Amino acid sequence: MGYLRIAIDGPAGAGKSTVAKEVARRLGILYVDTGAMYRGVAWLSVEYRVQVADEEGLLQLLSAHKLTFARGQSGSFEVSADGVVITHLLRSVEVSERVSELSAHPRVREILTERQRQLSHCESVVMDGRDIGTVVMPDADYKFFLTADLAERARRRHAELEAKGFRGSLAQLRETIAARDRRDSNRSVAPLVKARDAIEIDSTGKTVAEVCDEILRVLGRD
Ligand code: CDP
Repeated sequence: MGYLRIAIDGPAGAGKSTVAKEVARRLGILYVDTGAMYRGVAWLSVEYRVQVADEEGLLQLLSAHKLTFARGQSGSFEVSADGVVITHLLRSVEVSERVSELSAHPRVREILTERQRQLSHCESVVMDGRDIGTVVMPDADYKFFLTADLAERARRRHAELEAKGFRGSLAQLRETIAARDRRDSNRSVAPLVKARDAIEIDSTGKTVAEVCDEILRVLGRD
């Protein structure tokens, strides 16, 4: 028996979520967006006015409110807070600005890491994030590290945000992404780093379909 467990890590805007979701769809297995889980906590902190520096406050928030995760429509990963779907609110500038600082707190990470492991123990998963191949599922069957040029990552994220109705300058977004990468890579707990046994894929100039094909080839499922 045994479930199939695929880890996809990488910096912001490398296309992890889109690729991971598509790979999961093609394989017919669950997609888990761990970034959305951290964003869910960030959303709670905005909603209930808890400072992101206040780890105790964040832990209290997490015990007072119920964050739940489920398979959404067309294989998306859905996050709810106290029974209300909040997935569509998780990419706002406010949430994006807070999430990286918040996710550096060890005890917040412990709680979410445990939830992520539980999900991977119940069924086959494609899980994307920063520390999936290194911390959450170090024994995953397949590990990928997805990268792309900063300029291209900023362009992609800009287009994605515009399509969702958020506005902002490309130059500023590029700065925000670079700052988040620096913070994610330099934190002491579960930093963004390529696992030694991960396969690196540079997606600069490649379409989503091309990157998915590459991954499925490695899996022997093309
Ligand atoms: O989609 P994007 O790459 O911009 O971000 P995300 O995957 O939604 O993750 C948002 C933030 O959550 C990251 O910048 C990290 O600070 C944090 N995160 C993390 O620390 N560990 C994970 N496994 C996933 C996300």
